[in-house]
Amino acid sequence: MISTTSMLFIISFFSTALASPISVAPGTVIPIQKRVSSTSRSARAIASQVQQLQAKHERNFNTFKANTGKTHPLASSTPSKRDLYSVGLPLDDFENGYWFGDVEIGTPPVTFTINFDTGSSDLFIPSSECINCGPLNTFDPSGSDTLLDLERSFFVSYGDGSTANGDLVEDVVSISGLTATSQTFGLATNVSASFATNHYDGLMGLAFQSISTSNSTPVFQTLIDQDKVAEGVFSFYLAENNSEIYFGGVNQDKFEGEMNWVTLTLEGGWQIPLDSICVDGVPIIAGPVDSVIDSGTALIQGSLDAVQAFYAAIPGSKNATTIDPTLQGLFTVPCDSTFPEITLTFGGLVYTIEEKYFNSGPITEGSSDCLGGFSASTSNKPFWVVGDVFMRSVYTAFDVTNSRVGFAPLR
Ligand SMILES: *[C@@H]1O[C@H](CO)[C@@H](O)[C@H](O)[C@H]1NC(C)=O
Ligand SMILES: *[C@@H]1O[C@H](CO)[C@@H](O)[C@H](O)[C@H]1NC(C)=O
Ligand SMILES: *[C@@H]1O[C@H](CO)[C@@H](O)[C@H](O)[C@H]1NC(C)=O
Repeated sequence: MISTTSMLFIISFFSTALASPISVAPGTVIPIQKRVSSTSRSARAIASQVQQLQAKHERNFNTFKANTGKTHPLASSTPSKRDLYSVGLPLDDFENGYWFGDVEIGTPPVTFTINFDTGSSDLFIPSSECINCGPLNTFDPSGSDTLLDLERSFFVSYGDGSTANGDLVEDVVSISGLTATSQTFGLATNVSASFATNHYDGLMGLAFQSISTSNSTPVFQTLIDQDKVAEGVFSFYLAENNSEIYFGGVNQDKFEGEMNWVTLTLEGGWQIPLDSICVDGVPIIAGPVDSVIDSGTALIQGSLDAVQAFYAAIPGSKNATTIDPTLQGLFTVPCDSTFPEITLTFGGLVYTIEEKYFNSGPITEGSSDCLGGFSASTSNKPFWVVGDVFMRSVYTAFDVTNSRVGFAPLR
């Protein structure tokens, strides 16, 4: 009998074999960076994100249903606030786990610092008419020759109840010289307090239209439709320095060997089967289980029971609430122990999470307990959100045209 894992391998082998020839036109590098904060601050920031993450994905599933008329297979049958963490952390700590770079919008162009998020699908920036956008860069709709007011409103909401709303418009959006014309996006006139203290102006979703809250074409899909990219693929290289998103293919300088392509189970977020999670080669989670690859998430988040089982395999690990009650959903590992090898298997191939990314450092100043890279949701639904901790350990490509995600070892 062929195991599911080897079946997946065979499928991914054939999809690799059938892949289109190497593109002639080069892709475009978009330099991105991450803000680094002190450790104790970052533990609180990550806890804040962990506590909102489940709601973010529930919201995506609901939007999927609104846009497609189909129930998302991972949606809770009874979505309930009780399943979510109560959020007690200030959002000004929310910077961790965000990768941002420059985007130019309008004619003449205005530059914005944008958070690139593979876990959502909308673009929005602050409007000059914003009543509460604080120090953020804003966009004056009357100052752009190419703007079209769609006379529709937009509204986005985040898991903690934070929101942004305003007007839906179309204009030119340019990223490292790649220009999308008539791109739909939101001009926020009212944002909740947390947005005004972010270290970026707006957000660009890189997932599929089915989870766009305005049901509009996401920027990268527009670039494909307007023949601006050589291939319908964008890729992430998340390193200490010189991080980049590559639009229009994969950047051969950043990885070794062949991409291992895994076909999406659904076009919403970037949803693929996770074959297994192992600690020192022992399977702790035997899949396949659904996962989404989310650049807007710092850690790797799984269901409560799965994550408890995972940490049970790591000697000396602790529930972080025993150290700080606000750190719900987080766990610590001993800072000084010899670390086990933690691997995720996708498409039949095993990927090791680098210890420096799994271990985010002392949970509080001087502590011998370090923040572990897996966090727990409050739900027991078998579903993983695979964020930076994993994405920094591999090269990741997102293939819109062929509906698949690819991984390769970093060069
Ligand atoms: C701004 O948005 C918040 C949250 O949706 C809402 O309660 C408030 O009434 C809005 N303010 C204005 C002036 O539209
Ligand atoms: C990244 O850049 C910083 C500052 O220039 C430098 O100290 C550090 O060694 C670099 N890291 C790597 C991995 O190159
Ligand atoms: C951590 O401990 C707290 C307090 O005992 C408990 O409520 C929570 O469920 C635990 N969290 C996890 C993920 O085990």
